[in-house]
Amino acid sequence: MTQDKKKIIESVNKISYGLYVITSVGNDGRINGQIGNTVFQITSTPMRVAVGINKNNYTYELIKESGLFVINILKQSQIDLVPIFGLKSGREINKFENLKYHKTAAGVPVLDDILSWMECRIVNELTVDCGTHALFVADVVDGDVITSDEPLTYKFYRDSKIKKNV
Ligand SMILES: Cc1cc2nc3c(=O)[nH]c(=O)nc-3n(C[C@H](O)[C@H](O)[C@H](O)COP(=O)(O)O)c2cc1C
Repeated sequence: MTQDKKKIIESVNKISYGLYVITSVGNDGRINGQIGNTVFQITSTPMRVAVGINKNNYTYELIKESGLFVINILKQSQIDLVPIFGLKSGREINKFENLKYHKTAAGVPVLDDILSWMECRIVNELTVDCGTHALFVADVVDGDVITSDEPLTYKFYRDSKIKKNV
């Protein structure tokens, strides 16, 4: 890799993010979730967010089917959920096996004991094909705050990854 390319990657890696579990449901009730950092609010009227999802992910498949996803905002203390939801695919394991969760009326899983959550319905005509990833723009249709705590950030994960050498 050239020095210029390395510098560009280092620079892009300085962008700040949170880390979230994005959950979804298929038309037949299959559930799954994945870690995502590409999550941001775009407008408040209407309340709209966007998420960037890799098109190879199982979660992408479910979001495409139902048009629905939930953004689960994690507490810093929930960093152990990152390898479960971010390093394995729901095509191979049941990520919810040892976790407490409930479902929204539409059937999307919401993890218990998180900081807050919001249920989102994608706006089809605003989905952008970005190559490897799709950018889903979605209306926030429901949500709640569970507790006040420090939110998990990408920086906290990176720093602890270096510390723990995971
Ligand atoms: C720190 C971290 C951040 C991630 N951010 C994203 C992201 O923004 N978008 C994405 O599609 N995948 C992201 N991933 C990768 C997915 O979480 C991962 O590929 C996951 O295993 C997909 O699971 P699934 O196939 O069950 O949907 C991230 C993973 C980690 C560890």
